[in-house]
Amino acid sequence: LNKFIVFTLLLSSLGCVAKANPFHPDIQLLNENGMVWREGQPISQTNSCGQCHDTTFILDSLNHHHQTLSDPLTRLNDALGITSNSALKTDIVECLDCHNPKPEQSLGDLADEQSVIASGKLLLTSPTSDNCGTCHSQRWQADEQRPVSLPNLNATADLQALLFGLTGEIFSAQKISESALNIRNKETLNFSFDSHAERVVACTDCHSSQNNPVQPPARAQSKNLRFDPRTLSAHDYLQRPNHEFGRAHSCTACHEPTGHTWLPYREQHFNKLTCESCHSAWIAAPAFAHVAFKPEPTIQWRGIDEQENIVTGYRPWLLPNAHGRLQPYNVIESSDANNRWWQATAIHHNVNKSQATRACSDCHSKNSVLLRSLPGEPANLNLPTGFISAEGKPNLALAGIYVLGGNTLPWVDWLGLLIVLGTLVAVSAHGIARYLASKRHPAKDTPRERVYMYSRYQRLWHWLQAALILALIATGAAVHKPWLFPWVGFDVVVHAHNILGFILFVNAALALFYHLASGEIKQFIPMPDDFFVRSYQQVQFYLKGIFNNEAHPFEKDPQHKLNPLQKIAYFGLLNVLLPAQVLTGLLMWGSQEWPLLAGALGGLTLLGPLHSLLAWAFLAFLIMHIYLTTTSGPKLSSGIESMIVGWEDVEIHQREKKHE
Ligand code: HEC
Ligand code: HEC
Ligand code: HEC
Ligand code: HEC
Ligand code: HEC
Ligand code: HEC
Ligand code: HEC
Repeated sequence: LNKFIVFTLLLSSLGCVAKANPFHPDIQLLNENGMVWREGQPISQTNSCGQCHDTTFILDSLNHHHQTLSDPLTRLNDALGITSNSALKTDIVECLDCHNPKPEQSLGDLADEQSVIASGKLLLTSPTSDNCGTCHSQRWQADEQRPVSLPNLNATADLQALLFGLTGEIFSAQKISESALNIRNKETLNFSFDSHAERVVACTDCHSSQNNPVQPPARAQSKNLRFDPRTLSAHDYLQRPNHEFGRAHSCTACHEPTGHTWLPYREQHFNKLTCESCHSAWIAAPAFAHVAFKPEPTIQWRGIDEQENIVTGYRPWLLPNAHGRLQPYNVIESSDANNRWWQATAIHHNVNKSQATRACSDCHSKNSVLLRSLPGEPANLNLPTGFISAEGKPNLALAGIYVLGGNTLPWVDWLGLLIVLGTLVAVSAHGIARYLASKRHPAKDTPRERVYMYSRYQRLWHWLQAALILALIATGAAVHKPWLFPWVGFDVVVHAHNILGFILFVNAALALFYHLASGEIKQFIPMPDDFFVRSYQQVQFYLKGIFNNEAHPFEKDPQHKLNPLQKIAYFGLLNVLLPAQVLTGLLMWGSQEWPLLAGALGGLTLLGPLHSLLAWAFLAFLIMHIYLTTTSGPKLSSGIESMIVGWEDVEIHQREKKHE
């Protein structure tokens, strides 16, 4: 927290202790016409305070909600997106509604015979949370004497109840367990409704005046300034305080969220999740579920168990806000005689640490809180078209959000599974055919010679790479479908997958260097005739020759380890599959470091599904590869043995050598 905020909080906490302000000058009370007020006339606060404070400016800058007080039904119509025709803007909001912590004080009674209120008689402070709470539901009050209770849930004409019902947020320092709420498992809820209220952070610390010199500037004027000395003087501010306090300070104006070390990819998470999405994850009170206008509203509440007649509270929905970041909302259905529509109201309060979402599986799983179905599509949120599926599920990918293990694309997995199953079927059919053929044509004794085929480095490299790929497929599967692997922690597999990926990357780079330096790379490069004549011969062998126990069409030696089909397969593997997988993996890993680069290449919503599809392709390759090792030697295990010991019994061909 920076020093200005500490200073402000100090100021405001002093304000909370409702003491008369001896520094405030005497106030001459004036009437509507600007003349000295006399008993029996209405007092004009605008004129009285306007002798020193610029009340014209103040009233102009007060946003329309706070200038006049419309009747509750109009308010509700406004909030739920109906342009009502009965706009009864009656009461004018007065200075003291917000600036006097004791609303019952009557100005007339405090004045002397000259109609002057002597300094120190009137309580004048920055607005307290209770001041704001007189309209924004009494629940906002932090009163130790009275336990927090709910407003009359049937009082559809009560402004407080109506404003409260939009979200059910309660701004109170009181512990939930000590409140009067009949809330389920109350005794275990040993924390306050709102951590800020508990730590004497008041409404005005966040909803401060835009030109209050001791508040952090709403907009950073200059990036290279930590402190701008050119602030308004206290005098100027007190005279003309901007009352447009619609925009609150963002959480990061006060907090440096350096904790959260348990959360990997912190920046990435913060880019896509507002702080409230974890910190206001549960609202300990009921809120509107459905408001029917006919013409008096009837209200149905969520967060109440009707059967047991007990408050359960509710979990808000997480939907992308105007900046594409997930934000908690209550979604309210409204209906009148002809229409039905939904409206989302944002939640910014009821912040706490105890109920903050922490478990990776709360979000990264198929039951992710981010993927809960919605009762309907909120009309006021500007969601991308098609965002809500037929079953009411949000399609986060359309909002540019790809939650690993959560909103994966089903068709990627079906396609991948098809490729793998296809490979398995082909391989099994071939294997069975070979087995049957071997019954008919018992093995001939092809002359063989023992050759040192694979150097120590090559074998080490191969097995390391094989182990890494297997481990990456396993950990990758656990990241992709975490609920299939409930016994491993999501964060553990994420870290493991990253580490394995880097070892693979280094191992692949070293191997590239080795193959380039030693010239071995030549073996891997398919020659033009590999593609046609020679591949054809190899295919013929696998489709026919192998069943007749014919010799391999190409002789193998340390300089010619790969047959033409293998060349093509490895060329594809090493030049397309592996680099693509490494690249997509690196970009996903680095998407918080280089968001622009990752974004330019489609972002996580493209990289994620691509990476999964390529992983399926790897699995298919692996199956094929392992099967083909059984075709290379006299025994099924010969291929694998030779990769372990380095020596291989290769066929000696009587025919002329077929390699180049
Ligand atoms: C005679 C001039 C005068 C009149 C009239 C006057 N004020 Fe003030 N007001 C001041 C001065 C000077 C200060 C700064 C002194 C201080 O800090 O108390 C001030 C400070 C304030 C503050 C800040 C107090 C704090 O502790 O943060 C508020 C709020 C305020 N006035 C409201 C009002 C309201 C509401 C009225 C009308 C009922 C009013 N004033 C009438 C001169 C006046
Ligand atoms: C709806 C509530 C509301 C009403 C009505 C209102 N104010 Fe304020 N006023 C505020 C808030 C909020 C601030 C900013 C407090 C902060 O930045 O800490 C403020 C700030 C001030 C300040 C600067 C001192 C301070 O407390 O920061 C003065 C002076 C002031 N108001 C006077 C008036 C006068 C005079 C009127 C009547 C014309 C009036 N206000 C009406 C809410 C209100
Ligand atoms: C006299 C009643 C009243 C008082 C006192 C009051 N408000 Fe409001 N405020 C309203 C109403 C009504 C709305 C409109 C709510 C809605 O439509 O959702 C509103 C809206 C707001 C909004 C949303 C702004 C916008 O433009 O949509 C903020 C922020 C707010 N109030 C903060 C405060 C703060 C901070 C205080 C205390 C200084 C306060 N209010 C005191 C009645 C009041
Ligand atoms: C810790 C900071 C913080 C405190 C304390 C705080 N608010 Fe807010 N409030 C916010 C933020 C952030 C927003 C959303 C940003 C915005 O629209 O200004 C918000 C929004 C609102 C809104 C508008 C909701 C909407 O849907 O537009 C109202 C009304 C409001 N606050 C009233 C209050 C009242 C009344 C209090 C005190 C009882 C209070 N707030 C205390 C941070 C705070
Ligand atoms: C005006 C400054 C301010 C703003 C804005 C603000 N906070 Fe705070 N917050 C504080 C202060 C001060 C504390 C108390 C810190 C303490 O006592 O250590 C606090 C406490 C907290 C705590 C409780 C920490 C604990 O140890 O229990 C959480 C969680 C928190 N804030 C989250 C948020 C979130 C989320 C937002 C945005 C909606 C936000 N804050 C906005 C000033 C602010
Ligand atoms: C993914 C969910 C998540 C997000 C997003 C998140 N937090 Fe937290 N935060 C938590 C959890 C869980 C804790 C409690 C940690 C603990 O108990 O050790 C916490 C703790 C805190 C604390 C208490 C001090 C501490 O570090 O333990 C503050 C303050 C805080 N968060 C503020 C913020 C702010 C500000 C943001 C937005 C920039 C934010 N948080 C975003 C989950 C989150
Ligand atoms: C509140 C929900 C939430 C929680 C809790 C959460 N995440 Fe995330 N996670 C997200 C969202 C949202 C993204 C961003 C997706 C995007 O950028 O499209 C994300 C992204 C990620 C990414 C991908 C980052 C990248 O750039 O490739 C990883 C890895 C991840 N989370 C791991 C974790 C782990 C491990 C935990 C538990 C310690 C965790 N998450 C907890 C919601 C959550």
